[in-house]
Amino acid sequence: MLLANQVALVRLLLQLCITNVHALLSALLVRMTVWMGVRPGPGPGQSQLTARQQLRGSRAEKRRDPDRVLVTSPRSVNYHFTRQCNYKCGFCFHTAKTSFVLPIEEAKRGLLLLKQAGMEKINFSGGEPFLHQRGEFLGEMVRYCKQELQLPSVSIVSNGSMIKEKWFQSYGEYLDILAVSCDSFDEDTNRTIGRAQGRKSHIENLQKVRDWCREYKVAFKINSVINTFNVHEDMTEHITALNPVRWKVFQCLLIEGENTGGNSLREAEKFVITEQDFQDFLDRHKSIECLVPESNQKMRDSYLILDEYMRFLDCRAGRKDPSKSILDVGVQEAIQFSGFDEKMFLKRGGKYVWSKADMKLEW
Ligand SMILES: C[S@@+](CC[C@H](N)C(=O)[O-])C[C@H]1O[C@@H](n2cnc3c(N)ncnc32)[C@H](O)[C@@H]1O
Ligand code: SF4
Repeated sequence: MLLANQVALVRLLLQLCITNVHALLSALLVRMTVWMGVRPGPGPGQSQLTARQQLRGSRAEKRRDPDRVLVTSPRSVNYHFTRQCNYKCGFCFHTAKTSFVLPIEEAKRGLLLLKQAGMEKINFSGGEPFLHQRGEFLGEMVRYCKQELQLPSVSIVSNGSMIKEKWFQSYGEYLDILAVSCDSFDEDTNRTIGRAQGRKSHIENLQKVRDWCREYKVAFKINSVINTFNVHEDMTEHITALNPVRWKVFQCLLIEGENTGGNSLREAEKFVITEQDFQDFLDRHKSIECLVPESNQKMRDSYLILDEYMRFLDCRAGRKDPSKSILDVGVQEAIQFSGFDEKMFLKRGGKYVWSKADMKLEW
């Protein structure tokens, strides 16, 4: 009798041990998943597509374009969280068609879903990203992505006109790259394009932001749209003096419903240049090593773009066709409608050293 009780007691103790070890191991596994950035299965709000549905979708997609690489991982994402802007660039292809901005907690939920799906780089764009809540909304997303989601790269594209030094003091440490758009080093040309507000000088502003980037250790980039008004300019001297880590040179692109066609807010036809004119501009600036050219074709399908509702925008047909929101159907389902071509993304040099910790910068 005594022996039977002792055996039962030992069995009970053993069982308790096993349960605890199991719980401990499970907790450890969850932590490791987060530390190592391993993707967990679909969470609440994420797609529950069966493997067969996913396979069927990818086969149909392959039939349409056999060379197409299907992505399931949104490695680098551009989130245009607002369409509002203080400038009026005549060629703008992301115009103020709505004034909607997600509440910050919903935006963060979407960013977490993207991180869980494999996002490594986020770029905040617009509209003008520093306009909403005077940059505080943007700052909180930048901090969240770097500090809490620990993304290797957090960047912004801005017209630069609304950035204050205080923003760098609060959020500069969380930001890897700041790109400021500048299409001309002639103030009149900037005004003609619409890249101006009132009497303020866009070029003086650009210089001020460049200096803050140096002071607050943020990598500085420049974006320029080549169009009929600046196509003959030689920007070599100015770009060399500003010394950006990257100078992205875009060929002006038309997008139906944004800057061309019936219900668009801009008519950008008069800004469009030929392939040859674009090539001549590139040839004139070939001494600049950090120049990264982007023709119309490269731009159309090599970006993963999220709009203000967190819908992927497919630009392949020359307009912006939205997917469902990742907040409603999850990343895996929405991304199938993004039009993103990973081959083109790699071809345009989309994967580069994008974390400031890995850049050898002379601040
Ligand atoms: C839509 S803007 C939003 C961010 C910010 N407002 C700015 O201008 O930098 C993002 C980038 O797209 C570029 N862009 C706008 N319209 C374009 C077009 N039609 N073709 C090529 N690039 C364009 C801008 O110059 C900018 O570098
Ligand atoms: S391209 Fe010009 S108009 Fe368009 S969002 Fe940027 S600054 Fe505003």
